[in-house]
Amino acid sequence: MIQFQLNGTLTEAQVRSGTTLFDFLREKGFFSVKYGSDKGETGADTVLVDGKIMNASLILIHTLEGKYIETVESFSHGQDIHPLQDAFIEEGAIQCGYCTPGMVLAIESLAREKENPTESDVKDVLAGVYCRCTGYVKPVIAATNYLTTKNAK
Ligand code: FES
Repeated sequence: MIQFQLNGTLTEAQVRSGTTLFDFLREKGFFSVKYGSDKGETGADTVLVDGKIMNASLILIHTLEGKYIETVESFSHGQDIHPLQDAFIEEGAIQCGYCTPGMVLAIESLAREKENPTESDVKDVLAGVYCRCTGYVKPVIAATNYLTTKNAK
């Protein structure tokens, strides 16, 4: 039995050894976390653990005692969505959307970590999230718009 915070909710889980965070989240209905591969190369399974980008497929859940886990489900409440998601919509930065949750989490992690991230920082952080639709230009613009607005406040 372990305890951790999942999207701000104290969560207690009876876990089997060898269960990945990816399997756990999908079983619990957190479908923003996508399958990409068993080795984490695609970033489709991106989550934040204590604010850091991690691949849910590569984390055994029993190692997460006391950790703070975030999926993109925590970024919206009904029609009330995160400003970064707004920026993606405004820029038309979503094609099929498979990679979008991972991109949003990666950019938000950068926004929290660095005071004035550059476009190059955005490209670096997005390098870990493959977009099979090859739509990188608009996400970079959306991220830059979001970060510029956020830093102006
Ligand atoms: S929008 Fe389709 S994989 Fe990125």
